[in-house]
Amino acid sequence: MSVLYIRGGNPLEGELTVQGAKNSVLPILAACLLADRPVTILNCPQLTDVTAALAILRSLGCTAWQEGHTVTVDPAGASGCAISEEQMRSMRSSILFLGPLLARMGEAHLTYPGGCELGPRPIDLHLGALRAMGISVREDYGIHCCGRPSGGEVVLSLPSVGATENAMLCAVGGTGVTTIQNAAREPEISDLQQFLNTLGAHVCGAGSSTVTVEGGHPLRGGSFAVMGDRIVAATLLAAVAAAGGSVRLSGVAWRHLSPVVSVLHQAGCRVRSAEDWVALQRDPQIPLKGVATVRTAPYPGFPTDAQAPVMAALAGSCGCTLFVETIFDSRYRHVPELCRMGADITTEGRVALVRGVPRLHGAGVEAADLRGGGALAVAAVGAEGTTVLSGLQHIDRGYESLEYMLSALGGQAERRER
Ligand code: UD1
Repeated sequence: MSVLYIRGGNPLEGELTVQGAKNSVLPILAACLLADRPVTILNCPQLTDVTAALAILRSLGCTAWQEGHTVTVDPAGASGCAISEEQMRSMRSSILFLGPLLARMGEAHLTYPGGCELGPRPIDLHLGALRAMGISVREDYGIHCCGRPSGGEVVLSLPSVGATENAMLCAVGGTGVTTIQNAAREPEISDLQQFLNTLGAHVCGAGSSTVTVEGGHPLRGGSFAVMGDRIVAATLLAAVAAAGGSVRLSGVAWRHLSPVVSVLHQAGCRVRSAEDWVALQRDPQIPLKGVATVRTAPYPGFPTDAQAPVMAALAGSCGCTLFVETIFDSRYRHVPELCRMGADITTEGRVALVRGVPRLHGAGVEAADLRGGGALAVAAVGAEGTTVLSGLQHIDRGYESLEYMLSALGGQAERRER
């Protein structure tokens, strides 16, 4: 079993280019199924979720490989219309293959996706969107869909990121015009729109609550560079807030980070930014302050994925902060682990009260989910002594070598076999 040894107490300093966004590349990889020629994806992070998506593409008959940060997918040989239970369970985003599979094959058979560590993650909105496009959906020991998308009006009761993406991916491969109302507005949806349009699709409105897709435009091959990962950037900024120091992150759009940056600014950090970089500075001698309630919300609100890392930073502060998680039911699994490091945090349902303590201390802790793992690393760089962090299978889904990132900024982090 691999673990991370993280020795805290040193300020972080330096510059780093942030990896490509996991939440952007996963729907883009699913979209490759719709192309008729090879697609090259640049700035693709090296993550186990990407490996899982490439395995699904291969099982469907595509040729797909990754060399460094470049992925090439040749969908010419795609022929399958079923995804195995094992592959569906390998990650939550396996469900994003449903829309493109239907659009390409007119038929799709799969099981419910994995990745339930944040509480129940239904897919009713995904299936409702497909039904609104004329697809017949049967749930019977799995999900069985057939029909070709022929346009329609999709109205989402919640702005689900995945359901918006699945609806877009199905609609571009079909005919007719599809409108998606109450669409999620996350930047990764705009990146998906840009990718699809680069390949020849006609999609507009991403970033607003109404996305319109004009079907009937075949997707050609092409090449596309994935946007920078705003959640990895948020985690690193939280790490600098926890440890003190001065770091500049490039390759990430500052405006995508503004709710997180605003909280860290309130906590006493100094922030500078331009369009594609952000710099954060915190004097290690001056403790962080507690901030006004942090309430997670769909974009452009405070991202649920940044809740745990920012909480970890504020666990070592001189004040109290209340967190309200409004997106997922079970997103405080990092809290007991932070408490093992000396944090004083109590939770009740979707609310967590952080009573800041002057300093956390190292401990043996285990990540229970991806961003919770990022949070424990944030706590560890700010803590006194050494933390041994396990549960790396969660962390490696979304952080490309977290130990490298922390070391590149002068932190002491090392992966060891145990
Ligand atoms: C995506 C992100 C994830 C992030 C989340 C919220 C990817 C690969 N993952 O996940 O990192 O935490 O957005 O920003 O992009 N819901 C339903 N029915 C559905 C679908 C969703 O009730 O059919 C609910 C969910 O249970 C949750 C809320 O809607 O409470 C938001 O989920 P959603 O936006 O769909 O998240 P994901 O796309 O799974």
